[in-house]
Amino acid sequence: MELKEIMKLRRAVNFFDPTQNVTDEELKQILETATLVPSSMNFQPWQVIVVREPEAKERLMKAAMNQTKIVEAPVTLIVLADKDGWRAGHPTVEKVWENLLTLGYMTDKQRSWFEKGPEKLYGGPEKSLAFAVKNAAFFAMAIMLAAKDLGIDSHPMDGFDHEAVREAFNIPENFFVPVLIALGHFDKSKTLMPPKWRKSWNEIVWQYI
Ligand SMILES: Cc1cc2nc3c(=O)[nH]c(=O)nc-3n(C[C@H](O)[C@H](O)[C@H](O)COP(=O)(O)O)c2cc1C
Repeated sequence: MELKEIMKLRRAVNFFDPTQNVTDEELKQILETATLVPSSMNFQPWQVIVVREPEAKERLMKAAMNQTKIVEAPVTLIVLADKDGWRAGHPTVEKVWENLLTLGYMTDKQRSWFEKGPEKLYGGPEKSLAFAVKNAAFFAMAIMLAAKDLGIDSHPMDGFDHEAVREAFNIPENFFVPVLIALGHFDKSKTLMPPKWRKSWNEIVWQYI
């Protein structure tokens, strides 16, 4: 599908057909496509918890304002944004470093810059939260577009009790949960509400200098 068509067809779908699955193959394809998005220094500070078991879906639904789409959808992702995902010594950061060396983007002499730059940009609670969430948000959006490209519908949710989700799924402190994403197929026996209003050019451009 053309990107514009995917963008238009993607909707936050409230009703999922519980009889239609999203296979692990499809899920893998969606996540591996989504991870192509850009990220700060290519640190990719995102992971997901795949919630598929009925008991786990119930547990998640309880922490998410009883949003029934979580149990109706075959799978819901808990998106994790890693606040420590810029620190030297973090396994992903070290993998990024090795990759930069291998590809010739950097030399050993630049190691100090590689450590001090992120510390300056992302060090401190507010900055590290912003780092994690902005990058994970790009990833989350790409999940929904990649899913739609495969004919799979989605629903993003931030209507949940963050600490309740953390406790229910033993999520460590370094992760912030920016969003949950239910994935499945729209239940065609229900009515899909019409697409909502969007900002126009004039409302989006605050200054044009
Ligand atoms: C970060 C985020 C969180 C959202 N949280 C919820 C939610 O908890 N429950 C819900 O019913 N819809 C939620 N939505 C869906 C929005 O209401 C919906 O995307 C918006 O109204 C536009 O509709 P559309 O996606 O069908 O174009 C969320 C959307 C985003 C992007």
